[in-house]
Amino acid sequence: MRQHDAPTARASDRRPSTPPWWADAVIYEVYIRSFADSDGDGTGDLQGIIDRLDHIQGLGVDAVWITPFFPSPGHDHGYDVSDFRGIDPAFGDTGTFQRLVDELHQRGIRLLVDVVPNHTSHEHPWFQAALAEGREGSHYRDYYLWADPADDGGPPNNWVANFGGSAWEWEPHSQQYYHHSYLPEQPDLNWRNPHVLDEWVDILSHWLDLGADGFRIDVAHNLLKHPDLPDNPVLEAAARQDVPAGRVRSARGLARIYDMDQDDVVDLYAHLRARLPRTRSGEEPFLLGETVLDNPDRVERYIQTGRLDAAMWFGTDRVPFDAAEVARVLRTPSSGTSGRFGWFLSNHDRARPASRLGSADRALAIAAAVLAMPGPYLLYQGEELGMIDLEIDPDTARDPIARRAGELDVSRDRARSPIPWTDQPDRGWPSTEPWLAHGPLPEHGSATTQHHDPESQLNRWRALLNTWAGLRDALPPSCAVVSEGNLLILRRGDLTVQTNAGPGPLPLHLPEGTEILWRSRPHGSPQTLRAEETIWSRPPAPAR
Ligand code: GLC
Repeated sequence: MRQHDAPTARASDRRPSTPPWWADAVIYEVYIRSFADSDGDGTGDLQGIIDRLDHIQGLGVDAVWITPFFPSPGHDHGYDVSDFRGIDPAFGDTGTFQRLVDELHQRGIRLLVDVVPNHTSHEHPWFQAALAEGREGSHYRDYYLWADPADDGGPPNNWVANFGGSAWEWEPHSQQYYHHSYLPEQPDLNWRNPHVLDEWVDILSHWLDLGADGFRIDVAHNLLKHPDLPDNPVLEAAARQDVPAGRVRSARGLARIYDMDQDDVVDLYAHLRARLPRTRSGEEPFLLGETVLDNPDRVERYIQTGRLDAAMWFGTDRVPFDAAEVARVLRTPSSGTSGRFGWFLSNHDRARPASRLGSADRALAIAAAVLAMPGPYLLYQGEELGMIDLEIDPDTARDPIARRAGELDVSRDRARSPIPWTDQPDRGWPSTEPWLAHGPLPEHGSATTQHHDPESQLNRWRALLNTWAGLRDALPPSCAVVSEGNLLILRRGDLTVQTNAGPGPLPLHLPEGTEILWRSRPHGSPQTLRAEETIWSRPPAPAR
C-alpha cells in the first residue's frame, strides 16, 4: 500500500485560476454548536473552532463551512435568524470571527458562511416592522408573503410546512395569513420584491468585507413561490411512506410544484452574483446552494453559467450499500453546465453514514467513490471519525421535527451530537451537560485516540484526502461510473476507483505495474478487493 507516498499540496499554493479552487475541493462542515466549546457553557463556539484548527487542517480540507452563528431565538437552532449581520454572543463576537478568518487563511483554508435567505426569524426587525405596518403596509409588509383567508376562513391554500402542519400562520391583528416553509417562527421572505435582493446584496457584502470567501445558501431552491398561490396536487397515500430529504411525512403528501423550485428562482442567483463584490483576496465569491430536490436535472439549472458555482445533489445521502444504486446516483451534469454538483454523504440534517450504511468501513468505502466525482465534497464533522447516530430520547429531543411534528425517526438530532474529542464520559467537553447528549463513541474511538492510531478512520481519511490533493488537478471534469454485480467502478482520467459492496472478496485484476494509491482498509493484497473495501489505483506510468 502506497497511501502515504502521494504528493502533498494545499489549495492555496496549487491552484492558479483554472480549475477554480472549489472544483474538486473538500469542504468541511462545522455544525458550530456541536463542534468544540471554548467556554464551558455546553455549546460549541467560534473560539472552539479556532482551538481545534489543527484537527481541521490535519485532515487536509480546502474550506470550512460554518453553520449559522447569527443572533437567533433558536427555534430551529440558528436557522431562524434575527440579525443577518450580527454574531450571537453565545458563539463569539466580531473579533472572534476576525481571528477565525485570519487563522484559517494563514493555514490556506477558506471560509464559507451559511446564509439563510429564504426566511427570517419572526423576531427579525423586518418582520416586526411588517406586523406594525399592518395589512395596508407597503414597505416591510411586502418583504413577506401575506394572504387573505380562503372562503371558509382557513389558510389560502393546501401548502404544508416542511416541519409539519399548514405553511400558513394566522396573524389576528391584520386578519391575514403569512407563509412559512418551516416553522411559524420562520416567516418566508418575498423574493419577488426587489428590496429583498438589495438587502441580501448588502448582507453578503458585509461578510465578504469581513473576510468570507463564499456562502452556503440555505434551501436555495425555496426562495420563490408561485405568485398565484395554487394548491399543490395531492399525491397517492402510498408515496407518503417514503420520507426523503429531511421533510416530515405530511410535507411528502403533496407534489411540491408551486411552493418551491419555481422555474425563475435560478435567475435570482444570476442577479445576486452580478452584484456581489469580490472577496478580500480578489476572487469571485464561491456560491454553494442547498438544493433539496429529488431530480438531478432540476438541480443542474442552478449551476448554469452565471448562477451558483455548486449545488448540492441529494442522491447520495440516502443511497443504500449497493453498487447499482450508488452508480445510479453518481451523475455528472450535462455538458455546457459550468458549475458542479456538491457531493456529500451526510450533514447536520441527515443520518450518519456509519449508521445508515451499517459500519464505518462501509461509509468510508462509499465516501471514497463519491469523493472522486467531479465537484466539491462536503465532509460533515464527525464523518472523518465514523461517528454514529445518537439515539433519540423523546424527553430530551431538541429538533423541531421531533418536538413539534413528533417524528422521532427522522429527527435530525441523531447527527448533531457533540464531537467526541476524548474517550472520557465528558468527551473532552468542558461542560458535563452539552446542549445535546453525547452519542456513543465511534468504532475507532474519539478524535484523540484516532489521531494516534495509524489505522483509524481518521487516519484513513487523512491519507485519502492527501492522495486526492495530489491527483485532482490533473483529472478531467467528466467520469464514467458502472456497476457489475457487487462491484462499483468509477473511472476519471487516470484514476480508477473500485468498491466492493458485496459480502465476500472479489478478485482484483490490476494490469502489471498498476499503482495502488489508497485503499479504505489497511493491509490487504493486490490480488483481492475485500468486502466493503474501496481501492484507488492508476495505470503504470508509460500508459499515463
Ligand atoms: C436547511 C438547513 C436546516 C434548516 C432548514 C430551514 O435545510 O440545513 O437545518 O432547518 O434549512 O432553514
